[in-house]
Amino acid sequence: MKEVKESRDQQLTVALRIRPISMVELEEGATLIAHKVDEQVVVLMDPMEDPEDILRANRSREKSYVFDVAFDFTATQEMVYRATTKGLIEGVISGYNATVFAYGPTGCGKTYTMLGTDHEPGIYARTLHDLFRAIEETSDDMEYEVSMSYLEIYNEMIRDLLNPSLGFLELREDAKGVIQVAGITEVSTINAKEVMQLLLKGNKQRMQEPTAANQTSSRSHAVLQVTVRQKSRIKNIMQEVRVGRLFMIDLAGSERASQTQNRGQRMKEGAHINRSLLALGNCINALSDKGAPKYVNYRDSKLTRLLKDSLGGNSRTVMIAHISPASSAFEESRSTLTYADRAKSIKTTVKRNLLNVSYHIAQYTSIISDLRSEIQRLKCKIDSQGATRPARGESSTRGCLCLGPSPRLWLPVILGQHERLDAAGGQRGGCRAQLGPQRKSRGGLRGHV
Ligand SMILES: Nc1ncnc2c1ncn2[C@@H]1O[C@H](COP(=O)(O)OP(=O)(O)OP(=O)(O)O)[C@@H](O)[C@H]1O
Ligand SMILES: [Mg+2]
Repeated sequence: MKEVKESRDQQLTVALRIRPISMVELEEGATLIAHKVDEQVVVLMDPMEDPEDILRANRSREKSYVFDVAFDFTATQEMVYRATTKGLIEGVISGYNATVFAYGPTGCGKTYTMLGTDHEPGIYARTLHDLFRAIEETSDDMEYEVSMSYLEIYNEMIRDLLNPSLGFLELREDAKGVIQVAGITEVSTINAKEVMQLLLKGNKQRMQEPTAANQTSSRSHAVLQVTVRQKSRIKNIMQEVRVGRLFMIDLAGSERASQTQNRGQRMKEGAHINRSLLALGNCINALSDKGAPKYVNYRDSKLTRLLKDSLGGNSRTVMIAHISPASSAFEESRSTLTYADRAKSIKTTVKRNLLNVSYHIAQYTSIISDLRSEIQRLKCKIDSQGATRPARGESSTRGCLCLGPSPRLWLPVILGQHERLDAAGGQRGGCRAQLGPQRKSRGGLRGHV
């Protein structure tokens, strides 16, 4: 894989979402202490501080935090999606990596934001829908292959949610430092609906148990990866393939044993969750340190090893931090806001991933057959537009097929066809359904994250 020379430093985007206060919190007598004051500013009040206390009269009871964007109970799922994730899609389909991860204490709405409900779908569904739409809109000129994998980290072990029978999987680092999950199922998909079905299937396998803090508590970190390979429809003996990877991550929430009243297995899970989130917090601290560059210990947990590129490498990354507005959650809210605030100064270096495929002479037959299909597709399209005769001075596609076996000779002809189609305002659809990103290799074990 070759990386394009021009790379750009990019600041992590940090969004903050305050969920609505829950019935349980209200019944416990909690008051509202976290407020969004404008599009970017959130204020947290300390419920313990007594306004009558003269000794602390000069100390402010509230602290404000500025984020790239802030949401409160009035925000819809669509608003959160548009402000955080929608803008990443164009980059992903043209070879850039991106990550969106939901962060925050247990019960504060991470799974709600990422997965959502049937009526209020979250970021996963909205992103996949728009991703496939963006692919369709550009598929006259570009060919795509989309594949996905879905895993969870449960008690520091990696499970394949699309094929749990594979048991626990290992993380490997290749010679270029790219982290891969050995043997993970990578399924090629053709549309958003199919991906959603796979996602729902995977979610049924995910570890989720009720705790006192959240009836639907995620007991694992879940990582959905969608890989998009884009190449031009114009074939040549040297072909450039752009590979963009999108990670969407629903972390398990930090928790206090007292708050969740966890015992036994739930307590053990909580300890693993807290340990990996602590490792994540340490990485955020080291990466956001404005002083001399610090050693970043990604190796402390599987979560941080997996997130290495998303945090400090080649990825456009968005963190959506979540808090409860309730006074009973003050400590958790304060520490989440502190980490989210620090994360704002993390920088990643974004590069387009390019793969140069040079075809061997033995593969020319397949290139020729691809070109034939492409010509057929374009002919169908012309037919469907009623443009059956080529304009004067233009050569017909059929004539050019006789030119000889070199794909290079065909190139101007194919380009000419495209140009004509564009000029004719070529409508989408037609015969495209025969081609495009449709190669299915269900359950193919290609293995990488
Ligand atoms: N913005 C919101 N609007 C309406 N309900 C919400 C919102 N955020 C969270 N909830 C509700 O709050 C409860 C807890 O949310 P959720 O399960 O998403 O928390 P979580 O952060 O994923 O917790 P855990 O770390 O335990 O998995 C759920 O019943 C969810 O539907
Ligand atoms: Mg959850």
